[in-house]
Amino acid sequence: MRRRLAWLATLALIGGWFYRDRLRTYLKEAFANVRAFDLPTAGTYDALVASALEGFYARVAEETASAFPRGRVLEVGSGPGQLAACLAREAPNVTLVGVDISEAMVERASRRADEAGLAGRVRFEVGDVGALSFDDGELDGVVSTLSLHHWPDPSRGLAEIYRVLKPGQEARIYDLAHWLWLPAQGGNRLSLLAAASPFGGGEVEVVRWPGAVPAFVLLRLRRKEEAGSSGRRIGAKEKTLNCSRRSARIDD
Ligand SMILES: C[S@@+](CC[C@H](N)C(=O)[O-])C[C@H]1O[C@@H](n2cnc3c(N)ncnc32)[C@H](O)[C@@H]1O
Repeated sequence: MRRRLAWLATLALIGGWFYRDRLRTYLKEAFANVRAFDLPTAGTYDALVASALEGFYARVAEETASAFPRGRVLEVGSGPGQLAACLAREAPNVTLVGVDISEAMVERASRRADEAGLAGRVRFEVGDVGALSFDDGELDGVVSTLSLHHWPDPSRGLAEIYRVLKPGQEARIYDLAHWLWLPAQGGNRLSLLAAASPFGGGEVEVVRWPGAVPAFVLLRLRRKEEAGSSGRRIGAKEKTLNCSRRSARIDD
């Protein structure tokens, strides 16, 4: 038995030596993914986490479609694209751009939109919330789910979101409730972040999902109107269409 174990260990060492470059690349990528979205691959995130949150995305899509019924909307940290697919169905007059730091996430999200026949209205690109590729005041709305607590510099992210929003328009940032995100240490971290950002403050609401569990929060931020600006007011209640409760699954 001991000899067999010794043989297996030797074989593993030899294999590790031959494939060391590939192993190093894999481990580097896996650690970067854990920092960006808690799991070593985009596929496992999609299968384990994103799929379990379908009901949450349906709710966020409904609320977001009501807040942004038309125009150009940015989703920050769009992950595997489940919310984007749902939101695109819910808001047929919206064009959606998803930005995510992970190439593998962007690839999955693009594939999902393609397979759902939404590619004309939904696209994804690799990018960092701290350095968005959009012009000042270009967008009609920004939405994000469960991404802010992964941003290395959330203040910079909020400043960029402010910059790309049209005056008078809104960002809706959903994230984990403070009790689920230990580094938040206290309930007012998001309020403090918002107050220190160019938005000058925001509203934090508890989001109860699933059921009555206060598992999430919504940070609502509005870019100030400029004198003489004719920006559309956000929040006007408009009828939303049905969003399929099940976002299309994609195979690996
Ligand atoms: C926990 S996942 C959430 C994904 C998706 N929004 C959802 O609700 O399932 C966090 C996402 O934010 C992305 N992300 C992390 N840091 C980012 C950054 N600095 N800029 C843009 N995206 C980022 C990650 O790659 C990942 O896809």
